[in-house]
Amino acid sequence: MANIAHETENQLPVTKSIYYFSGTGNSYYVAKTIADSIGAVLKPIVSLKKGDVIEADILCFIFPVYDFKPPKKVTEIVENLSKISANYTIAIGTYGVALSSTLNYFKKSLNQKGVILSRGYGIKLPHNAVGSIGFTDEENYTRILRADKKICDIVGNIQARTVGDIEKTSIFENMTILKQFPHIIKLLFILLFKGPKSLEFTVTGDCISCYQCKKICPVNNIEWVNGKPDFGKDCTGCFACLQWCPKSAIRIGKYGFKGICMKHYHHPKVKAVDLIMDSSRE
Ligand SMILES: Cc1cc2nc3c(=O)[nH]c(=O)nc-3n(C[C@H](O)[C@H](O)[C@H](O)COP(=O)(O)O)c2cc1C
Ligand code: SF4
Ligand code: SF4
Repeated sequence: MANIAHETENQLPVTKSIYYFSGTGNSYYVAKTIADSIGAVLKPIVSLKKGDVIEADILCFIFPVYDFKPPKKVTEIVENLSKISANYTIAIGTYGVALSSTLNYFKKSLNQKGVILSRGYGIKLPHNAVGSIGFTDEENYTRILRADKKICDIVGNIQARTVGDIEKTSIFENMTILKQFPHIIKLLFILLFKGPKSLEFTVTGDCISCYQCKKICPVNNIEWVNGKPDFGKDCTGCFACLQWCPKSAIRIGKYGFKGICMKHYHHPKVKAVDLIMDSSRE
C-alpha cells in the first residue's frame, strides 16, 4: 500500500534529477517524459564519474533490465559515487520479458550508499535483444501505449511523493519468456559449438563510415581503425550501435538480425541524436 512520504528537514538542493541509461531509447523516453512533466534535470548515468556526489530533492534512476538485473555499468557507477543524498528516490527498470528482482538488486546498491529507495517500478516496453523476433509489431505498439499510461501514474506518484512497493515479477511474467525461449536456446547452441568469438561484433562492406555508432556508444567502446569502427573490450551489450546503424552494417559474428533472432528496434519517439552524448567523437 502506498503512503505519502513525510516532509524532511534535510537542507538538500531543490533540484529534481533524473539519471538514465539507454541503448535503444526505451529508458530515455521514460526518463525524458518524466523529466518534462516534473521539471527535472535529465542526465546520462554514464556522465557520473568515480567519487562524484549527487545531492537532490527528488532523484530518479531509469535503466533497462539486462539478464534480470540492472546493467553492470549502472551498478558499478552508482556504487562508485562518493555520496548520494536525496529526500525522495525512485528507480525504474524498462524491460521486454520480465522485471524479475532487478529493482531489489538496485535497492541493495543504493542501500550501500545509505539511500532508501522510496519506490521502484517496472515498465514493459518492446524487447530490443535476442528473441525480439518473437514479438509482433502490434504487440510492441500495445506495450508502448500501456507504458504511457504507467508513466502518467508514476508522475502523479512522484508529485505526491508516495512511498510503497519495489515492484518485482517472476521471470515467467505473463509467460512472455516462452516466446523468447527457442531463440535463447539457439544462441546457447552457437555459444557452445562455435564459441564466444563467433558472436563478436563485425562490420560489413555496407558501412558508410558515418561515425554514428562511435558517437552513440554510451561507454565510448568504439575506436576508429582504417576508416571503420573497431570494437573494444568494455561493451555493455546495449545494442545501440547495432540498432541505430543507418545501414545495418554491424553484425554479431557472421549473423544478420534474423540469424541472431533479433528485430530492428528503437523507441519510435526517440532519435539517435537524443542519445548521443558526445557528437565530437570522430
Ligand atoms: C543485453 C540485454 C539483456 C537483456 N535482458 C533482459 C532481461 O533479462 N529481461 C527483460 O525483460 N528484458 C531484457 N532485455 C530487454 C531490455 O531490457 C528492454 O528492451 C529495454 O526496455 C531496453 O531499454 P533501452 O531501449 O533503454 O535500451 C535485455 C536487453 C539487452 C540488450
Ligand atoms: S553507424 Fe553503421 S554505417 Fe555508420 S560508421 Fe557505424 S557501422 Fe558504419
Ligand atoms: S559497442 Fe555497441 S553494444 Fe557495446 S556498449 Fe557500445 S553501443 Fe553498446
